[in-house]
Amino acid sequence: MIRNNQPIGIFDSGVGGLTVWKELVKSLPNESVIYYADSANCPYGPKDKETIINLVTKVVDFLISKECKAIIVACNTATAAAIDFLRSKYDIPFIGMEPAVKPAAQNSKTKSIAVLATEGTFNGKLYTETSRKYAKDVVLNIKVGDKLVDIVEKGMVNAPSTESYLRTLINPLIDKNIDHLVLGCTHYPFLIGVLEKVLPINVKIIDPTLAIVKQTKRVLGQFDLLNLQKIEPFYNFYSSGEFTILENILRKITNKNYRVEQV
Ligand code: DGL
Repeated sequence: MIRNNQPIGIFDSGVGGLTVWKELVKSLPNESVIYYADSANCPYGPKDKETIINLVTKVVDFLISKECKAIIVACNTATAAAIDFLRSKYDIPFIGMEPAVKPAAQNSKTKSIAVLATEGTFNGKLYTETSRKYAKDVVLNIKVGDKLVDIVEKGMVNAPSTESYLRTLINPLIDKNIDHLVLGCTHYPFLIGVLEKVLPINVKIIDPTLAIVKQTKRVLGQFDLLNLQKIEPFYNFYSSGEFTILENILRKITNKNYRVEQV
């Protein structure tokens, strides 16, 4: 039987899911959290569905072996490829991510919006269905964020080359008169500072991080899995590869105690 004092599992192909972890621990301070970065296999974006399903199955088996009571797939690409499979294979709840096309389309005045995501996310059924459903009345411009995951994983967010690269990626979208840019990959919120320099002031960046944390709270509540005991939570991080960047980011985003281990 699942108990509500078991940890929440969260994973990504690398450090992107830390954007979700940071808000999660703020919003649910009683919860212990186990994070898995599949850094040895990053990026997931260009991989095919079957490969991603095989990779995430290993990650989920690991998180379940650590007694996670629910798992956040803090990766749009992994959600696109594998969420249906995971929900059918395992008994615990899974919370997934998808690009927030709906609020962008509903609030657009120029009737032109853009989504930045990986190839894998754009190829997914979830994205196709959501955009068909919610973006009927707007022009939907899509852009594969080539190299962006790599830039974040290499700790190069503030390098001058990143800003100039982002300009080449984003300028064609600005020319389409967009007023919303949807971040469809959990690595991209790390680039918000640079994106704000590149985008005109009228373009709103849609970051779905808070929405997924809210959804997690809702799902845990629904399954009676919220931890109501006030005991000191623990935060463990596992990486299948190199974890220097993970530690560097953690030092910047939290003052909580945590443990990092390579597996
Ligand atoms: N953070 C993942 C996502 O949200 C990155 C994808 C990748 O590894 O290419 O899609």
